[in-house]
Amino acid sequence: MCGIVGYLGNREAVPVLMQGLKQLEYRGYDSSGVGVLHRKKIKVIKEQGKLEMLERKLTDKLNTNIGIAHTRWATHGGVTTENAHPHSGPEGKVAVVHNGIIDNFSNLKEELQAKGNVFLSETDSEVVAHLVEEYIDLGPEQAVSKALSRLDGTYGMLFLFRDHPEMIIGARNGSPLVIGIGQEEMFLASDALAFAGFTQHAVFVDDGEMVILSNKDYRVVNRQNIQINKNVEELDMSSNIKDMQGFPHFLLKEIFEQPKSVFRAMGRGGRLLPDFGTALLGGLNMEKRDFYDIRKIHILAMGTAMYAGEIGKYIIEDLTRIPVEVSDASELCGINPIVEKDTLFVAVSQSGETRDTIAAVQEIKQKGGRVLGLLNAVGSTMARMTDGGAYIHAGAEFSVASTKAFTSQVTVLALMALMIGRTRDISLTRGKELVQELMDLPDKITSILEKADEIKKMAERIKDHHSVMYMGRGINYPVAMEAALKLKEVSYIHAEAYSAGSLKHGPLALICEEIPSVFICTSGDYQEKTISNIQEVRARNGRVLVISNYEDDTLRKVADELFVVPSSDSLLSPLLTIVPCQLLGYYTALALGRDIDQPRNLAKSVTTD
Ligand code: F6R
Repeated sequence: MCGIVGYLGNREAVPVLMQGLKQLEYRGYDSSGVGVLHRKKIKVIKEQGKLEMLERKLTDKLNTNIGIAHTRWATHGGVTTENAHPHSGPEGKVAVVHNGIIDNFSNLKEELQAKGNVFLSETDSEVVAHLVEEYIDLGPEQAVSKALSRLDGTYGMLFLFRDHPEMIIGARNGSPLVIGIGQEEMFLASDALAFAGFTQHAVFVDDGEMVILSNKDYRVVNRQNIQINKNVEELDMSSNIKDMQGFPHFLLKEIFEQPKSVFRAMGRGGRLLPDFGTALLGGLNMEKRDFYDIRKIHILAMGTAMYAGEIGKYIIEDLTRIPVEVSDASELCGINPIVEKDTLFVAVSQSGETRDTIAAVQEIKQKGGRVLGLLNAVGSTMARMTDGGAYIHAGAEFSVASTKAFTSQVTVLALMALMIGRTRDISLTRGKELVQELMDLPDKITSILEKADEIKKMAERIKDHHSVMYMGRGINYPVAMEAALKLKEVSYIHAEAYSAGSLKHGPLALICEEIPSVFICTSGDYQEKTISNIQEVRARNGRVLVISNYEDDTLRKVADELFVVPSSDSLLSPLLTIVPCQLLGYYTALALGRDIDQPRNLAKSVTTD
């Protein structure tokens, strides 16, 4: 889950590397470090804590044009300066930064210790630096290649060599690596975001490949040392520069960006065909007749993306009558999942790098399944391994807690449902209605954001409780799940979601004055039943906050607090009801003084098992 970046060129390397680390900080933020060539030595500066701690240590100007850097999310070894990267070999001839996990590191460590090597950290990564140094007399390329052949596990790694001042070597197996090609300068990083602002030209490295970088050139070879010709891709990085644009936190900025990001998910309107009452997602690479053959849709995702998938299930099933299953991707692997020819698999992921989802996609593909990707990060691992798909175009999301990606994922799932539905059952009139409803969403989200202060007041009342229940029925149940996740991950208040119908089957025992409930109660099929559930809670002294899309006397009477979003088609209501819930998470965390954009223990991209 760590971020790595390397630079070789004409600029001062340290500021470029620090800029790269800032862009990558979302991948991990418990410690960081840089390693540069300075006065014929590898100089490593690293520090435990946030990036500013490292910045404070970097007081001396180091005149150097080459270096590697790392931002860490601890796996092997605690959060200490010693365990921060880069790690060096015993004689300081090699330094490495590593993202991933080396499974067989203990055996290798014992072997090297038996030869007298002394290790300074508890990490698996330090072993790799020692191993490469062990073989360094073969030359850097051969040394890395030989060391790699002895590793089991996952890695995106960069190596710096004391005696080869114009070379960085990178290697990839299971963790992303991308080359950035500038004018007489090169970048090598775990994510193209690291060089946003320097170059748009990128080459994505695949598993089993090694990159040999100089400031003018790069070579990519496979495990047999055969040179591979790679495509240079031009990325649109315009919305990818880390900039809060006057907001106090990325989370708030990204919540407020949703009218625009949802509009982008609709291709700025270009993915909608109003006259035909349908949507067009060209990247799915599917013909009309392919849609007829689908008997089941199976969504694979984790966390917030999975809750987007759960909402997608309601929309797709309603509009297409195709049964949808949503899987927690981490639970799918190793259980020999059933892959049928007429099932369409859809991986949903913001980063496109989530290890669990990638593993599920790999397993499905090995069994011959067709997998589409609904992804945000262009050129990510999942984008390159799926059989087609659609980008959600949310723009880079820097807050660890996902918000705009969620609404964009739901929007694209709705477009997909509409597109498939129109080739099957739904009428032109219904299609047109939905297109209009979709087009109205950005303005409706804006009107919710204009009332953010109401939510701020609600947050003041939530903040002193140790636990909060979220409830909803039907399509509002996954909204409750996502809402509970938002509150817990940024405020650290325990929050749990239940279907309102399951309340009497156990969770009602929790209800008391100290545990408030948030109900998502929208007009339509479940309205009356949800009101009854709210009354059951009130009868047991439970305080109730209601997020609704209508208002009447009954609702006003049963709710201690009520927040009303604009009305919409019931299938699209989650795109509105979730917004106040995101704000509730944000303002509660703010009131409690939490580290909102970088909650404890988390990293944005979960790239380890
Ligand atoms: C929560 C959150 C996570 C991610 C999950 C999947 O706010 O961001 O639950 O949704 O880790 O990440 P992606 O979408 O990158 O696959």
